Amino acid sequence: MKKSAPSYETQELREFAETIQGRRTIELFLQTPVPDQLIDDAIEAATWAPNHHVTEPWHFYTLGRATKERCLDLCRDIVSQKVNEKAGDFKRQSWSEKPGWLVVTCQRSDDPLREREDYAACSAALQNLMLFLWKAGVGCKWTTGDITRDSRFFEIIGIDEAAAFVVGLIWYGYPKLTPTQSRKALRDVRTDTP
Ligand SMILES: Cc1cc2nc3c(=O)[nH]c(=O)nc-3n(C[C@H](O)[C@H](O)[C@H](O)COP(=O)(O)O)c2cc1C
Repeated sequence: MKKSAPSYETQELREFAETIQGRRTIELFLQTPVPDQLIDDAIEAATWAPNHHVTEPWHFYTLGRATKERCLDLCRDIVSQKVNEKAGDFKRQSWSEKPGWLVVTCQRSDDPLREREDYAACSAALQNLMLFLWKAGVGCKWTTGDITRDSRFFEIIGIDEAAAFVVGLIWYGYPKLTPTQSRKALRDVRTDTP
């Protein structure tokens, strides 16, 4: 039997849930440019994430064409060295098809608890950003591959490695293909205590 809608459910709430559940990690993008203003607005939305002690530990780098090219060369070098030159060239080509590039960093701290909480805040910020973009029709892929821990990457982007670490390299653009995903059932992730 179909459950009736709960009394708190409004169309707005349903649409909000659909945005959250519909967001997918996007691999294949169209080359249609994403308006700069939309990225500004998404970053602004990101910064409204909860952050303990209001540390605002994040920073957002939007990469220009020249920086992207340097990242592509670095990606090729890393993969060539780790696998082989053919794999490096292949990876460079596939990364060159990612339209928008954004790097999100988190400030480092001598206090491990602070750093952990700051990382949590940055993750919440990133989810804000991705959901905001998704609602505007733009998809993202959050990556944390080898390049995001390579000193040369920090140097290319101009991140002070002693002061911050990379939370993610985010590619964004209009999706060419939206994959499907599933999640565990609610009963498998929820425990009610007495
Ligand atoms: C912290 C973090 C790091 C991730 N790094 C990668 C990555 O390096 N490569 C990748 O293919 N996906 C990466 N992802 C994306 C996840 O694989 C993806 O979210 C997961 O498969 C679930 O898919 P969905 O986002 O469509 O729900 C990362 C996600 C998170 C949260």
